[in-house]
Amino acid sequence: MTSEMTDLQKRIMKLKNERKALILAHNYQTLDIQEIADFVGDSLQLARKSAEGNGFDIIIFAGVRFMAEMAAVLANEIPVYIPAPAALCPLAAYVNAETIRKVRREHPGVPVVIYVNTTADAKSEADYICTSGSAVEVVESIGADKVLFGPDANLAEYVRRRTKVEVIDITSKGHCYVHQQFDEAQILLLKEEHPNAIAIAHPECPPDVQDVADIVGSTGMMARTVVQSPHKKFIIATELGMVQQLQACHPEKTIIPAYDHAVCRQMKKNKLEQILEILENLPEANLVSVPKDKEEHIRTILEQMNRVKGQGPAVPVPVES
Ligand code: 13P
Ligand code: SF4
Repeated sequence: MTSEMTDLQKRIMKLKNERKALILAHNYQTLDIQEIADFVGDSLQLARKSAEGNGFDIIIFAGVRFMAEMAAVLANEIPVYIPAPAALCPLAAYVNAETIRKVRREHPGVPVVIYVNTTADAKSEADYICTSGSAVEVVESIGADKVLFGPDANLAEYVRRRTKVEVIDITSKGHCYVHQQFDEAQILLLKEEHPNAIAIAHPECPPDVQDVADIVGSTGMMARTVVQSPHKKFIIATELGMVQQLQACHPEKTIIPAYDHAVCRQMKKNKLEQILEILENLPEANLVSVPKDKEEHIRTILEQMNRVKGQGPAVPVPVES
C-alpha cells in the first residue's frame, strides 16, 4: 500500500514471522496497521479467517473487542490477542442477556438473531448471529415468518426491506454513533457534484441514507465493488479507515468520503506499538477470551453463520514488501 515501511513496521514484520503470528485487521484500522496485517476485511471475512489460523502460534486481532472475542471462539485454541483491550464497540451496550430474555417473554417462540457487534453475554442468549455481510442470508436461512433482531435498528431495517420476514427490533434505540452521523442531504449534494459517482453506504447508516445510496453493503462489499466496478468515482458512507484503504489500494480511482469526520474512536485505539509489545512479550492483559460457559453456544452459532454464503468473496488488500 505504501512504498516504504517504517522501522517499526519492519520490526513487526520480522517478529511476526519469528513468532508465527497471524495478524488480522478490520477495514477501519489505520493504514499503518492494515499494511502489516496478513489479512484485512469485514467482520464476516475476519470470522472466517480466524477459523483458518492453523499453522500459526498466535493471532493478533486489530479491531474492536467483540471481533477479537469472535476470533478467540473460532480460532481452534490458538491464543488471540487484541492490541487495545479497551477498544469496545458502543453499539454493543444496547442489549444484554436480560434484554433478550425480556423480548423472548414478550414474543414466545420467535427466534432471536443477534448482530455480532454485541457482548458474549448477549450472544449467549441468541439463537442466530450475523454480521452486516451475512444478515439477510442468516435471517432467510431460518425459514421463520418473524424474527427478533438487534441491536442495530438501521441494520434491522436493511434486512426488513430485503426479506419477506417480519423483523421485530429488540430495541429501536440501537445504533452506531459513527454511521448515525451520515445524512441524506449530504449524499444527495455529493451525487450532484459527482454525477458519475457510485454511492455506497453501510447498512448501519440511517434508512434515508440507505435510500439514496446506489449500493448498501458491508465494508467487504465496498472493497469488492470498487475492485470489480468499471466506475471511476465512489462516494463512501462508512468509517474513514475504509475510505483511506480504498484510495490507497486504488490510486487510479477517486474515493470520496460522504462525511469527513466519520471516525470510530474505539477502532483507532489500536496502535502499532501495542502490536510490537504483544509480539515481544505476549502480555496476559491483551489475551482475549469469552466466559467458558458461554463459549460453546457462541461457537455453534458463529459456525452456523460462517456456513452462509454472505456478500461475496474476501478481497485481500495488497501489501508491498
Ligand atoms: P463490517 O462487518 O461491514 O465491516 O462492519 C463492522 C462494523 O463495525 C461496522 O461499523
Ligand atoms: Fe461499533 Fe460503530 Fe465503531 Fe463499528 S463503527 S465498531 S459499529 S462504534
